[in-house]
Amino acid sequence: MQKIKTSAPGKLMLFGEHSVVFGQPCLVTAVDRRLSITIEENGSDFFVLDAPDLGLRAYSKNIKDLAKENLPKEVSFIETCYRLFLDRYPQQTTIHVFSKNEFTSSYGLGSSSASTVAFAKALSDFYQIPLDNDQLFELCYETVLKVQGVASGFDIASAIWGGTIYYVTPDQKTKRSKIVEPIAVKNLPFLVGYTGIKADTATLIRMVQNLQNEKPNLVDGIFAEITVLVEQAKRALIEENWPLLGSLMDQSQSLLRQLQVSSLELENLIEASQKAGALGAKLSGAGGGDCMLALTAREQRESVTQAISEAGGKIIDVAMNAEGVRLEKI
Ligand code: MEV
Repeated sequence: MQKIKTSAPGKLMLFGEHSVVFGQPCLVTAVDRRLSITIEENGSDFFVLDAPDLGLRAYSKNIKDLAKENLPKEVSFIETCYRLFLDRYPQQTTIHVFSKNEFTSSYGLGSSSASTVAFAKALSDFYQIPLDNDQLFELCYETVLKVQGVASGFDIASAIWGGTIYYVTPDQKTKRSKIVEPIAVKNLPFLVGYTGIKADTATLIRMVQNLQNEKPNLVDGIFAEITVLVEQAKRALIEENWPLLGSLMDQSQSLLRQLQVSSLELENLIEASQKAGALGAKLSGAGGGDCMLALTAREQRESVTQAISEAGGKIIDVAMNAEGVRLEKI
């Protein structure tokens, strides 16, 4: 029986969170914690999903009823992606899907986007419908928009292309297509500290939208400043100008604070790492919890690690610049 296995990486936002949802650029790197998807033929009218990491065992659905009603969050990305795929490329054979995650969904490292991308790639190989990266992106981004309502798609692009990329979201209204520009960086000397608090991205995006409705000048001004930092950070990363990059992180954190997406726990970890000699520190992702990044020279790595732990953070040991979605040997 035909069996396909794929995997896709998690991600860390480096610069440009929130403003990227509003059409501005961001910088994101893929991390070496991966989510894998295995697909095999099911021989009935039922789609079956086993995702023990999400607490799902033998979740099943008649193929006719896919993504019809409100779905449990754990299955929504995969089920919606399958529905959209079948609408485009109708198939006779149904599938059994196994999902395995090397990272908990609590860290905010992008397990939903990694699972959507790994699943879409597995579908394309299983049903022998060749999809290039742009077509994979289109299918997965539509999935995320259907499930979440609003998102920039930066995490989907990161899971597909891997490495470190400069990304601008597509704009449906003006039909402007996305920008994905791989950036040649060799070193990314960041430490990642997890606050222990799971943030809800959709809620935080809505908060920023509300603030923008209330105070458009203030928020658009902040977005414009963040964009200047993103462009400077892109150059600083390529040139390995760490003192400059650290200062850009601090400036970026101050703007995110003004957007009201930071939290006490994030601030504690950021302050502790700065006091211990980090070159710069900021939240990564939606804010409200999840992870922060601290940029450190090799000599300060140990003291900053200790300071983050003592301030209540958990160091997440990840390598950055990881490979994008790929087919795995079985
Ligand atoms: C969340 O990790 C980053 C946000 O910019 C949302 C998004 O880009 O979809 C807040």
